[in-house]
Amino acid sequence: MADDIATLRKLTLAGVSQSGDLRALEALRVNVLGKAGVLTQMLKELGKTEPAMRKLRGAALNQLRDDLTAAIELRRAALEDVAIAQRLEAERMDVTLPPLLETPGTLHPIHRTIEEMVAIFGAMGFALAEGPDIESDWHNFSALNIPAHHPARDDHDTFYLPSAPGKPARVLRTHTSPVQIRTMLTQKPPIRVIVPGRTFRADHDATHSPMFHQCEALVIDRNITLGHLKGCIIDFLRAFFGLSSLPVRFRASYFPFTEPSMEVDIGWNRKTGELGAGGDWLEILGSGMVHPNVLGNVGLDAREWQGFAFGMGVERITMLKYGMPDLRPFYDSDLRWLRQYGFSALNPVMLHEGGVA
Ligand code: PHE
Repeated sequence: MADDIATLRKLTLAGVSQSGDLRALEALRVNVLGKAGVLTQMLKELGKTEPAMRKLRGAALNQLRDDLTAAIELRRAALEDVAIAQRLEAERMDVTLPPLLETPGTLHPIHRTIEEMVAIFGAMGFALAEGPDIESDWHNFSALNIPAHHPARDDHDTFYLPSAPGKPARVLRTHTSPVQIRTMLTQKPPIRVIVPGRTFRADHDATHSPMFHQCEALVIDRNITLGHLKGCIIDFLRAFFGLSSLPVRFRASYFPFTEPSMEVDIGWNRKTGELGAGGDWLEILGSGMVHPNVLGNVGLDAREWQGFAFGMGVERITMLKYGMPDLRPFYDSDLRWLRQYGFSALNPVMLHEGGVA
């Protein structure tokens, strides 16, 4: 074989293995195999070779072209692998790293209390229901057995909305009880729901805010008795406050939409604020058996279906549980208060861990 062919083979193969990146390799390929490349040139000049040698030299040159092309392709594949590996390394992202928690926010105590209620009542088989903040007068009052001019309306310090002519009167709901009506109108019994949500009354001092939260509970089924109501409320209060022997007292009372009605007190120490001891009583929620008139208003036969309902203030039980003296900071968005009383979002309510009870 001619010397020039052997030399070109040797030099090119050495160049191939020495090219450190794809660009250098491509430059080498153009130099040898490109249109004006050395080997291309040699093939072109084949015609000038004397006929006896031409066949032999032609075969050798073609062989060289195939071998060099194959070597370059092999090297290209290897360099591409290296390039991909380098990119992967440079752009690597560890998705298992924990997030940076330099300024974690906190969950508002209202939110936390509602989550705890959902967990406790959820374990008892209650579902979650919701209703609108703006209610018809009918849902908020009339359907709940509070007709126009009923004295109970005066207790509620209602925000009335301007009424459009010919349209039913609207209010900012004064309690979560209208969702009892909405639930019974849209679901067939048996019903077991809790309704946490915003409520509104024109009242403002250290323990009242024009916007506050309530949580309603409603159970409708056959053969529901006052015993079920009492058991349910006692279990909830003891779980929520984490006091398994918290004293609970039921006191006869009046609500237009329940009969009989009872207010519920828990035992505490008026002087120290300590719950569960001290011999004093603190009113904490309103409750009762759903009034037959209310059942009739939503088309349920009171001889077939009975039930109980209760409603409590979310801020109130939150303040009691954590010893918070004033209601107003709940809505001030003061970061110092939120850091003091807020809860970590990474620390969810877990019944089985005793995070609640
Ligand atoms: N809705 C009543 C209130 O706001 C509480 C309540 C709810 C009482 C359900 C009885 C039954 O005071």
